[in-house]
Amino acid sequence: MLNIKNTIAHMISDKVDTLTADEIINILEYPPNSDMGDVALPCFKLSRILKKSPVQIADELADILPKNKYIDRIESVSGYLNFFVNRDIFIEETVDRIMKEKDAYGSSNIGKGKNIVIDYSAPNIAKPFHIGHLRSTSIGNALYHIFKFAGYNCIGINHLGDWGTQFGKLIVAYKKWGDKERVEKYQIKELMKLYVKYHEEAEKNPELDDEARAWFTKMEQGDKEALELWQWFKDISLKEFSRIYDLLDIHFDSYAGESFYNDKIDAVIEELKEKNLLTESEGALIVDLEEYGMPPCLILKKDGSTLYATRDIAAAIYRKKKYNFDKCIYVTGAAQSLHFKQWFKVIELMGYDWADRLIHVPFGTISIGGEKMATRKGKVVLLEDVLREAIDKTLSIINEKNPDLEHKEEIARQIGVGAIIFSDLSTNRIKDISFSWDEILNFDGETGPYVQYTHARACSVLSKADIDTYDSFDPSLIKSKEEFNLVKTLSLFPERIMEAMEELEPSIITRYLVDLAQDFNRFYHNHSILNAEDTDIKKGRIALTFATKNTLANGLKLIGLKAPERV
Ligand code: ARG
Repeated sequence: MLNIKNTIAHMISDKVDTLTADEIINILEYPPNSDMGDVALPCFKLSRILKKSPVQIADELADILPKNKYIDRIESVSGYLNFFVNRDIFIEETVDRIMKEKDAYGSSNIGKGKNIVIDYSAPNIAKPFHIGHLRSTSIGNALYHIFKFAGYNCIGINHLGDWGTQFGKLIVAYKKWGDKERVEKYQIKELMKLYVKYHEEAEKNPELDDEARAWFTKMEQGDKEALELWQWFKDISLKEFSRIYDLLDIHFDSYAGESFYNDKIDAVIEELKEKNLLTESEGALIVDLEEYGMPPCLILKKDGSTLYATRDIAAAIYRKKKYNFDKCIYVTGAAQSLHFKQWFKVIELMGYDWADRLIHVPFGTISIGGEKMATRKGKVVLLEDVLREAIDKTLSIINEKNPDLEHKEEIARQIGVGAIIFSDLSTNRIKDISFSWDEILNFDGETGPYVQYTHARACSVLSKADIDTYDSFDPSLIKSKEEFNLVKTLSLFPERIMEAMEELEPSIITRYLVDLAQDFNRFYHNHSILNAEDTDIKKGRIALTFATKNTLANGLKLIGLKAPERV
């Protein structure tokens, strides 16, 4: 209803010199039910500026606002100014727009000509892809599609964790307790066992850590044996990751991971030196950030090896040159917030004016049974297990309800995987999630499968409709509360996308899709579509069904889900 808000805002700003249309748009609200208007102005928010009581403001505005074809009625009620839209015009324009724009409905070109780098997923090599990585993967992927829909050129980067001390640990573990055949047979699961064993042993025998550090230093110095083992571990991991990305149907424009920056580090260190930013501290090189209330950013350890932050700084400088980004967005757990704050500051201190275009998008942690997941202790739920369970469950539901469904394996994948991604995106990203098998495999209520089933239901109605002309209908025949509410929700899609983009919050889209599906189902249960009272009413209801199907599909795509036509 952005157009309506816009119209109202201009009606008011034309009459009140001290207010701009933008200010008014931000204050306008959607009342919870239509009896209180379709759009309302809470006048208490203007009391201070206009130096009048809310009731006085509402009364005066109600008197002076001009007639407008989009607004039927304006009421002043206890300090609120309630606007009632002209339903015929509103319904006709909303549904026409959707039918015309189809899969572009909700898109815009505000990002035209701008590049956005989105750094997401980034699992660590030689560690399993666990349910914790799902969050970065699904949030990042949704942001990618949302920005793209707004016209941005997006570059999705998987900054793989393929460098660092943990590889030294793994090499030590493999050399001490590893077995080539077992690693070949069990792949990542075996590497994870070695990693867990390493940590158990290192607790008793801390000297192992020195050995591990030494191996990592060897890697950084280009030692052949160390690098061969590292490459082997990396190949094993990538094979597993790509199987999971295929299952999720999520793909990246670049897989330049941490090791990609190895040959770009020296120049960064030089630059930091030249700019007088490096200080020595107990043999290590740091950037002191005390002045900014933060612990120092570690650049080089005393043995000369690089750190996570060093590689992030090198990567940011490289990305700015290569992609000339308007924004570079990092999607990781909130536990890394300080890390990003620190090195964003270093970039600023280096004099790069684009430091404020680096954005960290944090999310809450996933715990199992009240405890944090810990790869070191082997306490993880593997993402692939969760996805397979969800797919199996969907397939058995299909086998029960619709055994002859064509391509049922693929549809089971689309719904099973959709259920997991949707559930992950259902809460505000910053909220912590407690993982439960029952909950994640529950398809009832406000879930991905519910939205996908609703889409398929709309498709099924449309396939049975014997008129194929959706493009003309008489809006005055669309009279019921359910129909009007559905159109209102349909009209909100473009602004919900804007909100999701501004707040970097895909859950705004999942919530919207559930609302839209619920509104459609209320309409569907209360009114006959195919057996409507007469052909003209039927045409209108089919138009609504088409608009719903179209909008659900567009929304599902934005969060990385498929919209199967049959289930
Ligand atoms: N590999 C890291 C992790 O699993 C995430 C990397 C995020 N991206 C970055 N540029 N730091 O925690």
